[in-house]
Amino acid sequence: MSETVKLEFEGKTYEFPVVTGTEGEKAIDISQLRPKTGLITLDPGYANTGSCKSSITFMDGEKGILRYRGIPVEQLAEHSSFIETAYLLINGRLPTAEELKQVSILFNDHSLVHEDMQIFYQNFPRGAHPMGILSSMANALRSFYPELQTIEEEINITVTRLLSKMRTMAAMSYKISRGHKVVYPRPDYRYSANFLHMMFDTPVKPYQINETLAKALDVFWLLHADHEQNCSTSTVRLVGSGRVNLYAAISAGIAALWGPLHGGANQAVIEMLEDIQRDGGNHQRAIARAKDKKDPFRLMGFGHRVYKTYDPRAKIIKKMCDKILEELNINDPLLDLAKELEEVALTDDYFIEKNLYPNVDFYSGIVLRAIGIPTNMFTVMFAIGRLPGWIAQWKESMDDPMWKLGRPRQIYTGPSITDYIPIHERHRCQA
Ligand code: ACO
Repeated sequence: MSETVKLEFEGKTYEFPVVTGTEGEKAIDISQLRPKTGLITLDPGYANTGSCKSSITFMDGEKGILRYRGIPVEQLAEHSSFIETAYLLINGRLPTAEELKQVSILFNDHSLVHEDMQIFYQNFPRGAHPMGILSSMANALRSFYPELQTIEEEINITVTRLLSKMRTMAAMSYKISRGHKVVYPRPDYRYSANFLHMMFDTPVKPYQINETLAKALDVFWLLHADHEQNCSTSTVRLVGSGRVNLYAAISAGIAALWGPLHGGANQAVIEMLEDIQRDGGNHQRAIARAKDKKDPFRLMGFGHRVYKTYDPRAKIIKKMCDKILEELNINDPLLDLAKELEEVALTDDYFIEKNLYPNVDFYSGIVLRAIGIPTNMFTVMFAIGRLPGWIAQWKESMDDPMWKLGRPRQIYTGPSITDYIPIHERHRCQA
């Protein structure tokens, strides 16, 4: 017999079905709550609310588990590539060798962006944040690449364009912000190597691809590829629920990711570590500030809405960070500082009691610095990585037979009905 939950309210009992996921997680299906009882739920930050059923990503925040389409992220980081993982997320299964080859050909064919888009780039003010530029340009893509004939063609080509062009657009924004000539992609380079080439090659100093760094970037992207219903992904689904085009939904996702409590944390971690370094390496002061309720400062790169243990992605990135710095003989004092800070925080009662562990952003900035990515481009790196997840989630929501326009409700706390006051009768306190 299927499980139910009983709700007693104003002398009546109502029954609601319990939905169980494949990993045993349970939810009360309240879709009939308001029609039956007149009640709604109130859940700030949606911490107890499941917005959809999804077969893409499974995470268990208590056990530190993350799987894409059932495959542990640790296995993918070791054996797969970002592009293969993107295929897995979007299509629901790993590609065959032939399919993967076709994907590479398509990505190469679609890697250029319309030349006229460069005019937009040229006209952003020099100090503009690359996330603002990327979000605007993702939206602008619709104007340059109008809707195609069939829905299938529209989805397949749009997905390919986004995955291939986003990387070109990100590198372009960097080049233009530095006043450098844009570098075009090369057909003989793989996805991450091509990005590094477009970022760092110059006519006077050809960039030599370093396989260790190209691999590190690929793993960084793979680890960011999806994370179920987080802030930016929920934004993509919500914006997409109005049936807007995919470019616009992705543009909204990029804007949501920009925030320092979400994807912007990787930039904020490095800035925090640099501040501590300037303060003579005094990490105790940072810990004390993070614990002080009167101080809005938080230890960036610590804590997570879902993970109440060490973020499994952070474990992989920390290991990778040690490996590449050693292999390339790079000495980054910020890494030593990060490790000291982690050690102090993990033994501090405040962080233990609140289950605050390093998240993916804590060490990823150090990896990106080693690759040579400037700090203000860190969140753009995250956006390129998260793109397959956004696309997969958007696609799933489009095919969902339970699809509905996203439209939460509220509990109104403003004034009761109030008469309009003509302007000449208004006093300041009434205005
Ligand atoms: N430093 C100090 N205290 C913290 C931190 C932190 N990094 N994170 C949470 N807390 C404290 C809060 O002050 C709060 O304390 P209280 O219960 O005494 O009021 C308690 O822990 C719970 O915090 P919430 O903000 O309610 O928890 P939530 O689940 O909403 O927060 C979040 C998750 C936003 C990620 C938070 O931990 C944070 O701000 N971390 C720093 C920013 C960061 O690293 N973001 C990246 C997250 S990963 C990602 O999005 C890719």
